[in-house]
Amino acid sequence: MSPFSLTRTLPEDATDAALRADVLQGLAATPKTLPPKWFYDARGSDLFERITELPEYYPTRAEREILIARAGEIAAASGARTVVELGSGSSEKTRHLLDELTDLHTYVPVDVSESALSQAGRALIAERPGLHVHALIADFTAGLTLPDTPGPRLVAFLGSTIGNLLPHERATFLKSVRALLAPGDALLLGTDLVKDESVLVAAYDDASGVTAEFDKNVLAVINRELGGDFDLDAFTHVAVWDAGNEWIEMRLRARAAQTVKIPALGLVVDFAEGEFLRTEVSSKFREQGVRRELAEAGLELTHWWTDAAGRFALSLSTPR
Ligand SMILES: C[S@@+](CC[C@H](N)C(=O)[O-])C[C@H]1O[C@@H](n2cnc3c(N)ncnc32)[C@H](O)[C@@H]1O
Repeated sequence: MSPFSLTRTLPEDATDAALRADVLQGLAATPKTLPPKWFYDARGSDLFERITELPEYYPTRAEREILIARAGEIAAASGARTVVELGSGSSEKTRHLLDELTDLHTYVPVDVSESALSQAGRALIAERPGLHVHALIADFTAGLTLPDTPGPRLVAFLGSTIGNLLPHERATFLKSVRALLAPGDALLLGTDLVKDESVLVAAYDDASGVTAEFDKNVLAVINRELGGDFDLDAFTHVAVWDAGNEWIEMRLRARAAQTVKIPALGLVVDFAEGEFLRTEVSSKFREQGVRRELAEAGLELTHWWTDAAGRFALSLSTPR
């Protein structure tokens, strides 16, 4: 195997079919909704990287703080020879962990964003000549087949991306991750914690408008891929804290009544003034809830670390 490979596990027309199905189903639902994975074309991935640097967006800094402090402990506990990272994006924070894994053989970043994977993968092999990087363009909710690489295996799922799945989707997803783990393997999970509403809302609705641009990118993706005529300026980005569900919702609210055409789907969609399209849910967590959800998937939480301010947690769990 060459040190860097990029494998598409789904044919390109499967991605196209999945986008069509999600748009058809989501825009017919009440409220209208779209899965967040469609944000991440090359522009969406770049915008997400800009979000991680915003003063309001604390999760990346908080998680990096934990990784820097705990990478040695994580490496010692897992002894991983293969790190599989789900939704790896730029792999930027993961470097702190890779640096500590002295026996690391292969890194398997998994993402829907080909641009993020190829940039991150090429940078990593340039920095670490001995490392094999086997990047997978894949949907981590669609059942993964991993390459045959040396164990033990550490599956990392950082950035609290797990919060973008609804509770019933998380349960299915965690069971599928559990199925990837053999005895001696582990899961490293990043979870953003419940905190003051004003801090949460600001993190998803920054003053400079980068998150708004990111949110509207899903409309640009539909326009480009399916010939839609969404007017991005006709929607306002909003972030709302749902205290009952303990999640943030990102929404695009129609500024006026309007009709949108999506010719590739033969679809005509009406929006009433003020009607919203839900583009992302970002659940916030508590330790007991994470422990319970992991246990229900057959995983035992063995370590729980937070940043000094208690905003974000990293947990390590092993198959039971
Ligand atoms: C919130 S970002 C986090 C990126 C990085 N892990 C971090 O902590 O900064 C979510 C990442 O997951 C990817 N992603 C989202 N949904 C996905 C899916 N269903 N399958 C694979 N990757 C997905 C996105 O392309 C993006 O890179």
